[in-house]
Amino acid sequence: MQLYFNPASPFVRKVRVTAHELGLGDRIELTSISLTPLSPHDGVRSSNPLGKIPTLITDDGAALYDSPVICEYLDSLAGRNRIFPAAGAARWTALRRQALADGIMDAAVLTRYEQAARPKELRWEAWVDGQFLKIRTALDALEHEDLADTFDIGTISIACALGYLDLRFAAESWRTRRPRLAAWLAAVSPRPSLAATIPAAT
Ligand code: BEZ
Repeated sequence: MQLYFNPASPFVRKVRVTAHELGLGDRIELTSISLTPLSPHDGVRSSNPLGKIPTLITDDGAALYDSPVICEYLDSLAGRNRIFPAAGAARWTALRRQALADGIMDAAVLTRYEQAARPKELRWEAWVDGQFLKIRTALDALEHEDLADTFDIGTISIACALGYLDLRFAAESWRTRRPRLAAWLAAVSPRPSLAATIPAAT
């Protein structure tokens, strides 16, 4: 399998952590690319009309996107619903947490583009404030969740969202008012899947 990849992307990290947890890491060949909405990548666009990463090319040559679909595909390859609980409350909790964490990543990546790619004279502070409100409110909600006992698609997504905030928005100091969430991230960070995929700025 081939994965279009950027070491800063939290969505790509979700896929890599999932593959690692499932023992599928060695079956994925990483193709490193840089892209922004202003400089799309032709190779990705030929497989994914949205031109976004992660995009996975399966061994059958099919293109899969985006991260929830790819992660569920990998879980199906490995079998036994190890990352996506099969049914019941555990499944809906994991999917809701994935949606919440993906929303943090969306808001953070859009803000990163606004601050790093948009010309200064076109930047819109009120819009950035709106994105930060989403991020802070979601983090406050996570502070009250009991995350300790599971490492599934919900908690993988949360760890990747927090890792991206540390990479791009360290000044936000999200840990200051969220000691339970900070302690949870510290406890799970030594997992080999997370330790092997620490995001890096490009
Ligand atoms: C970043 O540089 O922050 C980034 C790169 C690719 C995808 C998402 C974010």
